[in-house]
Amino acid sequence: MTKIKKAIFPAAGFGTRFLPATKSIPKEMMPIIDKPLIHYAVEEAVAAGIDEIIFITGRGKQAIEDYFDQAFELEYLISQSKKDQQEKLALIREYLLEPGRIKYVRQPEPKGLGHAIWCARDFIQNEPFAVILPDDLILSQRPCIGQLREVFDKFGGNVVATMPVAPEDIGHYGIVKPKDNTAENIMNKVIELDGFVEKPSQADAPSHLAIVGRYILDGEIMSALAEIKADLGDEIQLTDAMVLLAQQQSFRSVKFEGQRYDCGRRNGWLQANIAVAMQRPDMAALVKKTLKDMNANDFRFN
Ligand code: G1P
Repeated sequence: MTKIKKAIFPAAGFGTRFLPATKSIPKEMMPIIDKPLIHYAVEEAVAAGIDEIIFITGRGKQAIEDYFDQAFELEYLISQSKKDQQEKLALIREYLLEPGRIKYVRQPEPKGLGHAIWCARDFIQNEPFAVILPDDLILSQRPCIGQLREVFDKFGGNVVATMPVAPEDIGHYGIVKPKDNTAENIMNKVIELDGFVEKPSQADAPSHLAIVGRYILDGEIMSALAEIKADLGDEIQLTDAMVLLAQQQSFRSVKFEGQRYDCGRRNGWLQANIAVAMQRPDMAALVKKTLKDMNANDFRFN
């Protein structure tokens, strides 16, 4: 059986929703408490046994490369200090992967998610691989991409993660078209798919199941990406290439277990910070008390 060894992390977007911070910080480096967003995404892949990481980056994203590298000056300065030396060194030495396991590919122009993935075609050849969108932070007992991998190990083909969304949110997502659209089938955790529509209107949506940023795709997707045309916004959409591939190969969706936070938006990012803090034994009690006190004070600080 083919093993999923590689994961692509598209990280070339400008992050304009987080201006002015993203003038000089890649949005993937925005911290959720004390770790950058990209750290959680890589941690998820590693926890699922995926140990070859391919970042799609662009201009101004050097901070990502530095983050996954040795911080020599910092290590030196900390080792000279007397306080909490070992603890701090352990934090900055948490590289997650051994040297050589991380690759970087540049997407020279912003031409959409599909184009970003296509830029990594030489690293993928014809193998199945994972895609993790770092903006979607998923907190779960079992890594979300591992949940998809289990379905891939059983059925092969292609697998996407989905979650049910409210009608007014349908237009923000790629929406899946189930093969069997009966209410009984839609309730199942894993369902077979016929196709996809990227950000449809409520009237055109084939279901209320939205794709979140976790995929396992066959290497053939690269040919589909090369074949499809850009949309009206001049972007190559991954969803459109999946529609093409679904004509020849099977696709399944998995309603993943866990909670997803859209860290590409300010509110989602704030929620993720609170959720992560609440899960951390070193922070939970204090944050809970702080939120309670703030609420009682109607969020005024004086
Ligand atoms: C992308 C995909 C969309 C998917 C979403 C998940 O959209 O194109 O199909 O539902 O990620 O976060 P974006 O958020 O980049 O607009």
